[in-house]
Amino acid sequence: MLEDTFGHRISYLRISITDRCNERCAYCMPEEGQKWLPKEEVLSFEEIERICRIAAKLGVRKLRITGGEPLTRSGATQLIQKLVDIPGIDELGVSTNGTLLTRLDSSSKDTRKTYIQSLAAAGVGSVNISLDSLDPAVYASATGRDYHARAIAGIRAAREHGLAVKLNAVLMKNRSEGELIPLLNFAREENALLRFIELMPITDSNVLDDSRFLASGLAKSILELHTGQLEPRPDFKTNGPATYYQVPRTNQLIGFISALSDFHFCNTCNKLRLTCEGKLRPCLGSHLEIDLREPLRQGADDKEIADLFHSTVARKPETHGFRDTYQPGRNMVAIGG
Ligand code: GTP
Ligand code: 5AD
Ligand code: SF4
Repeated sequence: MLEDTFGHRISYLRISITDRCNERCAYCMPEEGQKWLPKEEVLSFEEIERICRIAAKLGVRKLRITGGEPLTRSGATQLIQKLVDIPGIDELGVSTNGTLLTRLDSSSKDTRKTYIQSLAAAGVGSVNISLDSLDPAVYASATGRDYHARAIAGIRAAREHGLAVKLNAVLMKNRSEGELIPLLNFAREENALLRFIELMPITDSNVLDDSRFLASGLAKSILELHTGQLEPRPDFKTNGPATYYQVPRTNQLIGFISALSDFHFCNTCNKLRLTCEGKLRPCLGSHLEIDLREPLRQGADDKEIADLFHSTVARKPETHGFRDTYQPGRNMVAIGG
């Protein structure tokens, strides 16, 4: 079992399988000059699978596959199939920008399958899809790509294939205010669970100054002008740190992921992150990383890798460092959120 010094049971591992992405969200990576890792520095599928098998024996029950955009890595859906089948893994989610879901999965054995068909066939029950705007022009300015229609098609395809969908909208001042109600209505129509995410300082791009930060509380007040007072639903929990509210007179729930304004944000932390080049991170908001790749490639046995998991968990901080002098050493795209 993995338990940190604050009594948190660690049962959730987020795995970035690539640092590459087909979009360019400014809060995630610089618009120009992003350098991709050379292939040999990225964990192979065999290495990822082995780490996940060890993690499952240590009590990890949920995996989340992230990127960059995870579906840009060839063979991603075959890896996912293998990870779903690991004994002890109860749940596997995928965080994606959605733009490839309706495209043909060229690495699938059946080349007529789209990515969403491959994911559904692999037994993936849910996808978390980024959607910052319903306005194609705003979407293009946020993501650097004119892929709004593809993202919407991806969301609809996921629902049509019976997957649960969570929509992630990052809050940005002077951009998100007008998007809140359209996103709320769209999520209701598509039967998707919408979460608004406070911007976290994890890119070297200059979008992260105070004039861009929109607190969850303010977004909630803007929503309430339209919906009436949102009712707290502390009884409703997903695996991550979102807190949920119910829209009055409807069944709709919306979540807020408030890493900066919620001082209790880290109280229920249950996770570790694995970067695509094999570093285990005890916290998104801390520089600390423990390398698994070299030990793996030097022939470490399962016990030695398990010990590295234990020592990483022992070094989990009580809370993230975003409010202090956190200067990101690397972009979100390399960590996977
Ligand atoms: P579920 O398992 O579906 O609840 O997923 P999730 O909310 O953990 O995952 P998702 O990939 O959709 O992430 C949504 C946002 O939450 C991203 O911006 C993540 O960076 C952020 N997030 C998730 N977990 C943590 C965390 O432990 N710390 C911080 N700071 N942010 C987190
Ligand atoms: N702050 C908050 N959320 C971010 N994401 C990417 N970069 C940031 C950031 N700097 C979100 C994406 C995606 C999720 C996995 O992480 O919108 O939905
Ligand atoms: Fe790509 Fe997601 Fe980062 Fe946007 S937030 S650049 S979609 S990895």
